[in-house]
Amino acid sequence: MDVIEAMETCIAMRYLKEDPIPKADLERLVYAATRASSPGNSQEWDFIILTEAAVKAEIGDAIWTAVAPMFETLTAGAAGVEGRMYSGAAHLAKNFAKVPAWILGCARKNYPPQAPTEAFMHSTIYPAGQNLIVAARSMGLGTTFTTFQTEAESVIRTTLAVPQDVHLCVLIAVGYPEKPFGRVRRKPVEDVTHWNHW
Ligand SMILES: Cc1cc2nc3c(=O)[nH]c(=O)nc-3n(C[C@H](O)[C@H](O)[C@H](O)COP(=O)(O)O)c2cc1C
Repeated sequence: MDVIEAMETCIAMRYLKEDPIPKADLERLVYAATRASSPGNSQEWDFIILTEAAVKAEIGDAIWTAVAPMFETLTAGAAGVEGRMYSGAAHLAKNFAKVPAWILGCARKNYPPQAPTEAFMHSTIYPAGQNLIVAARSMGLGTTFTTFQTEAESVIRTTLAVPQDVHLCVLIAVGYPEKPFGRVRRKPVEDVTHWNHW
């Protein structure tokens, strides 16, 4: 698949089949992620792949307990595209353990060496995450970026034995899509492009 076509159809896929994903394909996603650029080629990233049912159940329960009240309010108050986004996000969180794989993108705050910042840490993990979701799309896999890890950080740290200096930056759902890959809807290029001055 052409890389632009993969980007054009790399929608947040919140409805995923339970079918397991071959280990080699999950490793290929990490391979794609780690081909990304990073500040000073620091590569301060790590990826924890969650496929074990018991681990997903423990983390999923903690996340759903934390987010259920918020989603009740959000889904009641929204309609149209926004409503579908919230109900899809609620479905994903509620069915956390049924998602075949979650990839937790982690990073260390080590760049620049003389004065490390969180900004550089996030600028390390997000290009890698974008590589991962586009590669997944090219392989016929659906993904959704989430920040669900922020809702149950202490449970995740304990369950997965994550070192204290490692930040939990993004939690990406991966699975075969239950719905067709639509096209992403984004602002037109001419609305956001500025030639030579603002
Ligand atoms: C940093 C980041 C955090 C996100 N967090 C969530 C999330 O917690 N739950 C969710 O369902 N989608 C999440 N998304 C997905 C966006 O909501 C989604 O990409 C956006 O609404 C556009 O939809 P589309 O990609 O399907 O076109 C996140 C995306 C990014 C980049």
